[in-house]
Amino acid sequence: MKTDLPQSFQRLEYQAPNYTFSQVELDIALDPARTIVKSRLEVLPGPGHEAGASLVLQGHDLEFVSLRVNGEAHRQFELNPEALTIHALPHEGGKPFVVEIICVCVPEKNTSLMGLYVSNGNFFTQCEAEGFRKITYFLDRPDVMARYRVTLRAREAEYPVLLSNGNLLSSEKLPNGWHCAVWEDPFPKPSYLFALVAGKLECIEETITTSSGAKKLLQIWVEPHDLKKTRHAMNSLIASIHWDEKRYGLELDLERFMIVAVGDFNMGAMENKGLNIFNTKFVLAQPGTATDADFSNIESVVAHEYFHNWTGNRVTCRDWFQLSLKEGLTVFRDQEFSADQMGSESGRAVKRIEDVRLLRQLQFPEDAGPMAHPIRPDAYQEINNFYTVTVYEKGAEVVRMYQTLLGVDGFRKGMDLYFKRHDGQAVTCDDFLAAMADANGRDLTQFRNWYSQAGTPKVIVKESYDAAKQEYQITLTQSPSEHISNKEYKPFHIPLKMRLLTEADEQEEVLLELTQESQTWTFDHLASRPVLSINRNFSAPINLDFDQSESDLLAMFSGDDDAFNRWEAGQKLAMQMILQNRLPDAPLIDAYRQLLTDVDLDPAFKELALTLPAETYLYEQCASIDPQKIYAARRAFRHAIATELRIEWAALYQQMQIPGPFNPDASSAGKRALKNFALGMLLEADPLIWATMAVSQYQQADNMTDRYAALAGLVVHGSKSAAACLEDFYTRFADDPLVIDKWFGLQSSRPPVANADSTLSEVKRLRDHAAFKMNNPNRVRSVIHAFCLNNPASFHQPDGSGYAFWAESVLALDAIRPSDSTQIAARLARGLDRWKQFSEPYRTQMQAALKLVSDCETLSPDVKEVVSKALG
Ligand code: PHE
Ligand code: ZN
Repeated sequence: MKTDLPQSFQRLEYQAPNYTFSQVELDIALDPARTIVKSRLEVLPGPGHEAGASLVLQGHDLEFVSLRVNGEAHRQFELNPEALTIHALPHEGGKPFVVEIICVCVPEKNTSLMGLYVSNGNFFTQCEAEGFRKITYFLDRPDVMARYRVTLRAREAEYPVLLSNGNLLSSEKLPNGWHCAVWEDPFPKPSYLFALVAGKLECIEETITTSSGAKKLLQIWVEPHDLKKTRHAMNSLIASIHWDEKRYGLELDLERFMIVAVGDFNMGAMENKGLNIFNTKFVLAQPGTATDADFSNIESVVAHEYFHNWTGNRVTCRDWFQLSLKEGLTVFRDQEFSADQMGSESGRAVKRIEDVRLLRQLQFPEDAGPMAHPIRPDAYQEINNFYTVTVYEKGAEVVRMYQTLLGVDGFRKGMDLYFKRHDGQAVTCDDFLAAMADANGRDLTQFRNWYSQAGTPKVIVKESYDAAKQEYQITLTQSPSEHISNKEYKPFHIPLKMRLLTEADEQEEVLLELTQESQTWTFDHLASRPVLSINRNFSAPINLDFDQSESDLLAMFSGDDDAFNRWEAGQKLAMQMILQNRLPDAPLIDAYRQLLTDVDLDPAFKELALTLPAETYLYEQCASIDPQKIYAARRAFRHAIATELRIEWAALYQQMQIPGPFNPDASSAGKRALKNFALGMLLEADPLIWATMAVSQYQQADNMTDRYAALAGLVVHGSKSAAACLEDFYTRFADDPLVIDKWFGLQSSRPPVANADSTLSEVKRLRDHAAFKMNNPNRVRSVIHAFCLNNPASFHQPDGSGYAFWAESVLALDAIRPSDSTQIAARLARGLDRWKQFSEPYRTQMQAALKLVSDCETLSPDVKEVVSKALG
């Protein structure tokens, strides 16, 4: 047992590697019970080399067999559970030498889903961040980049397909029913991008021609029965390839590009060079089994992983503190891609609103809680805990700010210079900033503060209008988040798009750059007081503290030409009223009515505009959170919108029906979203009348979006018909795990329903269901995480029962690991991060649950880091 303080890694303690590898040859004989891995490393002194230094190779859960150096058996080494240290190495004039290692790992026993593991009888790997060390002893760090040649061997009958990174050199039959394949990746890469896949898989293929005229082979590999569900992923891949050529001049560099789907996966997907491995959830889709949201998630995850080929793979991270270098940039790129795919300006705005909504619901709370960290953290105990919404989503906002400051063309110049300077290298966030600055002749020194300071900054807006002088003034004052200790706060460089809305409509949009703590701008020749539309399109990831009158907000909600701020004004009005426990007043209802009946407005926008701020976002506005009060106030507000506008909802429910066959495009998806939102409102207003309609939509739907929405409406509103429909749904889709995940997830996220069992008791029943699997991440997320993380009103019970369930689940999940990380448990453990913000009795109960978990003596380091930071 480890009893000493957990080790913490510090960004400023970076040391260049003392050795590096030019060439890596792997020969892997795959056997679930005993996989033999032979590696041959060509070793060179690294940039941090000191004469006579030993070579320390990381290794974890490996059985060591043998070691040779320059062809000779080598005995000067030490072995411990984390490393193989090789002494007495040949050093003649800095010449390369060869290290050969043989070791064994046991994929069928590997339940961590890191390294080499078995899922449904096939082999897969996951190496980011530190999984390669579970396959062989290695310098498992991203700044050691090498060329790989990989020979895979396996029994042909069981593993007919053998895949690895790069290009296939050869394959042949071997004696005793074995076969082998040799793969070579011409581009140097760090070990975290290594991958192999072996098993009974089939693919769809497509050949495309890229900008230089080269032909490329694209493949999507799945289990044979899923082949029919791969078309959308393939279309998304082709669109991504073309987009990256057009927008950034970046071409696919390999002869072939493969995507493989696997049902057991900790995350969404992984960008291994030329061999992306995906959670099935982000590959498989057909209209009958996937919702519009699934289709668009697949499109953006496929794009994200593909875009990593340049931002992440060709140019990678020097160390894991730089994670946002690849993740923030790649999320920004996939967001821009998806926005372009929407096919219209209003579609782009819809995408932007969705992205910001996610940021606020998930990242703002993180940035105000015990795990708050800058997008480039300074320290971590477990790197797995730093694949966060801050590194990803706030990181993307920081990249977006470069584009806002430099313009789209200036940003492109910066990207070009970044690749020109750093192709083939492992670099830092500072290198990215320098490329942006140098390509544009800009001093971005102050912009660096976005990388080093945590917390969502606050910007206070004060406005004044002098009618006599026809002068309007605004003063902007920035301050750090009050949730973070900020002794040495340095002001941020904050780009704020703004426009003065006037009767004459003559003011242009301008970009204000707030760089001091406080700055004032004066605008003249204004015949009347304008309405200030600021932080348009959410140009900076900040909290605006602006005491704007309800009439100004209403004016913006009805007519701001910036769709984001139009939406924002409506959110702010609703939020203020909900927090004051008010119902929507007549002017607001009128504004809602106008908006809903405006035939020129995008249906998807209408749906967003009428969706109320999430409970977790409302929590962030409270000094002391009472979850049941917030739930009740929000629900009452929703009920009022539902009943006051019932005629409009009924009309929309009819108007948004789409005749003809199913079409997955953005415009049809928007209509479905609004139609199903209307159905939810009708069920809220008159559940008895509309349940019949929902049941018939459920039965007649020709697509999952409509079927699921009808089912969800029935479940959420406690309809009597819900049980029969749920049962029908289960039987219909019993052999489709992704759809069964929806079935579980829907029931676990049901808010409290009058005269029904508590959701918690339902969740416990679901956990005992024959189809529940504690070791399948998707299934666990659809039951346990859905309840504890996405169902606040049911989770936060005054008797603490939800928290007790949480503690029990964290411990149960954490106990699945053999000896290392359980990312699923650690993610769940984040669920009580904000306990100090809650009112009694919640607060004390949450603290007790956290203590219960932290008292466990066999906790994984991942969970330990999370709960001890929460309690600390
Ligand atoms: N790098 C992956 C992505 O962003 C995420 C990931 C991290 C997957 C760690 C697995 C393990 O696409
Ligand atoms: Zn990524």
